[in-house]
Amino acid sequence: KTETKDYTIGFAQTGVNDEWRRAMNQSMKIQTSLYSNVELIILDGEDNIENQIQDIEELIAKNVDVLIVSPVKSQPITPIVEKAFNKGIPVLIVDRKTEGQNYTAYLGGDNYQVGVDAANYLASLSNERKKVVEIRGLSGSSPALERSIGFKTTIEKNDNLEIVKSIEGNWESYSIKDSLSKVLNEIKDIDYVFAHNDRMVLGAWEVAKEKNLHNKIGFVGVDGLPGENGGIKLVQDNVLLATILYPTGGDEAIRLAMKILNGESVPKNNLLETTVIDFRNADIMWNQFNKINQQQQDILKQQSTIDKQEETYSSQTNILKLLLGL
Ligand code: FRU
Repeated sequence: KTETKDYTIGFAQTGVNDEWRRAMNQSMKIQTSLYSNVELIILDGEDNIENQIQDIEELIAKNVDVLIVSPVKSQPITPIVEKAFNKGIPVLIVDRKTEGQNYTAYLGGDNYQVGVDAANYLASLSNERKKVVEIRGLSGSSPALERSIGFKTTIEKNDNLEIVKSIEGNWESYSIKDSLSKVLNEIKDIDYVFAHNDRMVLGAWEVAKEKNLHNKIGFVGVDGLPGENGGIKLVQDNVLLATILYPTGGDEAIRLAMKILNGESVPKNNLLETTVIDFRNADIMWNQFNKINQQQQDILKQQSTIDKQEETYSSQTNILKLLLGL
């Protein structure tokens, strides 16, 4: 704990190399700034399990009051999370899960539903038989597994859709380019590509564009971030047919951590809702997100004004004390 703060929340983040993680950190910081007695420490795991284990060790040693973890992969991060939990530190797992039940609460988007939504969306587009390629996220991370199960189970119920290939990626666009290129050379009449996030689906679109197939294939991704490089813009620009919103849950995570700090009981499993973003609602989503973004910037501005006023006040008090010989 620092001198001025009563509580410390430590967050072992997967990494900060992508926009989704940065957005998550940003909303956590803004939410934390609303509580004057709480400090938030975010450590960057650089998408590497060894680093993330080190980070969690560090946060345990710092004696944080709540530990938040978004695991790179489920299985290898479980023992260190259990170590923290068994020491009595409340543990909140976000976005990607650990194995077993040794944590206080989980918070994240409903990844099974993400897969179901993507499949139902494709099913709604046509009554003819269509061929689908699935591009999966990092194997061993729970969203990749759950999105895949939701997607496959729903496709299997539909006679018109068939998954002709499922490709393994690692959430990043470069990871799928060679394998998708081969698949597009082998199978000529692919109708849809569903990738587990927007970074990979953009990579897929780029591969298809090189082969001049980008207008023949319909692309669906996941995340639906606002901003110039986000999924909403890709839908508006007709690169994607749709993206399934996967909320970062940054502000909810801090709210949940505060409840835990206040000794309130919280549900073990906290699922955030998802929704399909396509040409019908992309503009509305874009405007909504811009408004929220503006409000967040206003909060940050107010916060820094308050900080400045506090500084002025405390230096004035010091001068006064000096003058009065206190
Ligand atoms: C960000 C990200 C997202 C994806 C999520 C799954 O690092 O790759 O694109 O939806 O992680 O955990």
